Order: sequence, then C-alpha cells, then structure tokens
Amino acid sequence: MSGMGRRILITGGKGGVGKTTVTANLGLTLNAKGASVLLVDGDIGLNNLDVVMRAEEKILYDIGDLARGKATLSQCLVDLGDKLRLLPSMTACSAFVTTEIFREICLKAAEIFDYVLIDSPAGVEDSFLRAASGADESIIVATPHLASVRDGYKTGKILSSLGFTRQGLIINRIRGDFVMDKTMLDAKEIAGAVKLPLYGVIPEDDSVNVYGLIDVTDKKSPSAYSYGLIADYLGGGDKKLYDYLHPYKGLMGFLKRKLK
Ligand SMILES: Nc1ncnc2c1ncn2[C@@H]1O[C@H](COP(=O)(O)OP(=O)(O)OP(=O)(O)O)[C@@H](O)[C@H]1O
Ligand SMILES: [Mg+2]
Repeated sequence: MSGMGRRILITGGKGGVGKTTVTANLGLTLNAKGASVLLVDGDIGLNNLDVVMRAEEKILYDIGDLARGKATLSQCLVDLGDKLRLLPSMTACSAFVTTEIFREICLKAAEIFDYVLIDSPAGVEDSFLRAASGADESIIVATPHLASVRDGYKTGKILSSLGFTRQGLIINRIRGDFVMDKTMLDAKEIAGAVKLPLYGVIPEDDSVNVYGLIDVTDKKSPSAYSYGLIADYLGGGDKKLYDYLHPYKGLMGFLKRKLK
C-alpha cells in the first residue's frame, strides 16, 4: 500500500457493548475484502482479543515485551491469516506500555497495514486514553440502550476534544422486532443522541459463536452483510445501512414477530 494506513479506535465508553466483537469481525471483513489489517488489543491487562481470535496459543511476545525492547514489532505479531495480524496485549503489569510508546507502536504499524484497528477498554480513563493515543479516528460502538447511548455521546465528545475529527457510530445488537414494537430505540434516534454519523447497524445475532465471531463469508448472514456494508463504506464506497426492520416486514415478518 502507499502512505499511512488508518488508525481507528473502536470504543464506546460502556462495558460489554461489543467493542472487541466489532474489532474482530470488522477486521475479518476488511481483510476478506483484500485489506491488510492489524488488530491491536488496546485493553492492556484485560486481554480479550487474543481469546476471541483464538490466538492465545500462538503468542510468543506481547506488547509489553515490545515496550521493554525485548522483542521487535514483527516478532510480536500473531499470524491470523493472509495480511491479518494481531498485536496481543499483556496479561500482567501494563506499566511499561506508556501512552507515548503505545502511540509510537500504532504509528509504526500504520506504515505496514491498511488498517490498524484498536480495541479499546471500557471507560474514559487512563487505559482508554492510552488506547486512544494510538488512533486518529474512532468508531463508537453503542447498543440501543440509554446508558450505552449516553456513554457513546460522552466518549465522542472526549475524543473530539482530543482532536479526533473523523468519528462514526456503529449501533450493535439492534433488534428489528423490538424496534417495531417500540420497545427499543431506533437507529435514527440513537445516532441523533450520540451526535455522530451512523456508519452502520449490526443486528443482534444468535449465530455468533462462543467467541463472538461470525462467519464473514456467509452470504445469508445479516451480520456478515451489515459488516460488509460498513467495510465498503470505510473503504470509500457509498454509505448503505442494513435494514434491520426488513426481516419483520410483511406477513412472514409479522408472524416471526408474534410467534417468537
Ligand atoms: N451483535 C451481536 N449479537 C449477539 N451477541 C453479541 C453481538 N455483539 C456482541 N455480542 C456478545 O456480547 C458480549 C460482549 O461483547 P464484547 O466482549 O465484544 O464487548 P466489549 O464492549 O468488548 O466488552 P468490554 O467492555 O468488557 O471490553 C460477547 O459475549 C459477544 O459475543
Ligand atoms: Mg472488549
């Protein structure tokens, strides 16, 4: 590739909204479309991404070794497939990985990869700020619940104040049947409240495996389809949103809703 790759923080303030899942699945999708992708576990001390990507056994060196000069960047990268790598976080003391060092590592990685996706820890404190220092754009993940929407908004504001100009929102775990029954906020309401451009909508997916991964190549999977739309948009294509109400429209949809 030419020039620098994009360094994107996947964050959201609230815990458990799907930051790690979105980092993994979006990375897999971008990679399946031909991009070189580095997944950075920015949740240092509470590593998750290696578990989700089933890479634990393959880790020789982690970001802590890199920060202490015990390994090079390329020695730390775990091979997850053609042009797909993971930079694992560490399980123990994270004091070596300062904000400065983390930022330098991500900048260096962006010379090699088209996308550097940084999985952010929850919260908006030190470890979040360290993860944020590695990126210059963000994707806020929010679920359709008020607490998550509020945290998404606050996180977006903090990142703006840190100089992030390119920010977008992914709404995760939306349920079209609930939105239709008016028991769940719809995507427009959520995007309006978070005050960020909506990059995409990921439906609640019962088919995610125990790790949270989907089969990104499954043409029939609504999640895979919605990740595909987001990846295309990030790559410069038109913005198209997954129609999460579609499966619940018409007679069949009505039955699906009522018979659940
Ligand atoms: N669209 C989805 N459909 C169904 N399950 C999902 C979806 N997205 C995420 N999950 C599940 O939700 C749980 C939490 O997801 P995840 O660990 O990615 O959240 P997180 O924001 O990274 O959490 P933390 O703040 O602890 O880092 C996981 O069990 C994951 O499999
Ligand atoms: Mg996580």
